[in-house]
Amino acid sequence: MKVKAPKTCEEYKRYYLLRWRILRKPWRQPLGSERDGFDGEAIHAIACEGGKIIGVGRGHFKKPETAQIRYMAVDEKHRGLGVGSAVLKYLEEEIKKQNGKTIELNARDTAVGFYLKNGYQKAGKAPTLFNTINQTKMRKKIIK
Ligand SMILES: CC(C)(COP(=O)(O)OP(=O)(O)OC[C@H]1O[C@@H](n2cnc3c(N)ncnc32)[C@H](O)[C@@H]1OP(=O)(O)O)[C@@H](O)C(=O)NCCC(=O)NCCS
Repeated sequence: MKVKAPKTCEEYKRYYLLRWRILRKPWRQPLGSERDGFDGEAIHAIACEGGKIIGVGRGHFKKPETAQIRYMAVDEKHRGLGVGSAVLKYLEEEIKKQNGKTIELNARDTAVGFYLKNGYQKAGKAPTLFNTINQTKMRKKIIK
């Protein structure tokens, strides 16, 4: 498995499709709802294996030294094998290269354990998604 930035149009297409399929489709959100205004300037990551994209994630800067990670998703068949952690690590390294010192994110409550394992700490309540998914704010200092 290799984690890298998507480059070709085809890779971007499949990147957004995985985001939508895992993070939007189950809540009947339309295609297109998986994108936002930060995509143009963000750090994108794809985990690839055997020509397939099996994991994705994105980072963008909210303030000069503070980035947010969003849209972390791993294909169901490849979960629990370190793919999500590898995507997270790639994004953290890229954020560090751009002088990011802190990462914040809103974790779906079902994913809080994953972020705790990766060194994030709970930092309060975050807005509820689609009126149903409870979220927790989490934070990690990547450079002291
Ligand atoms: C959350 C998600 C990205 C994790 O990806 P993954 O590839 O399965 O995670 P990893 O295999 O790297 O897991 C790393 C560690 O976290 C643990 N972990 C993974 N998912 C977890 C979860 N949902 N709850 C608790 N612990 C979890 C693993 O057991 C592993 O622990 P270990 O190091 O002791 O073995 C993936 O389950 C997913 O796509 N979930 C659905 C979408 C989602 O909720 N995204 C996050 C939105 S905030």
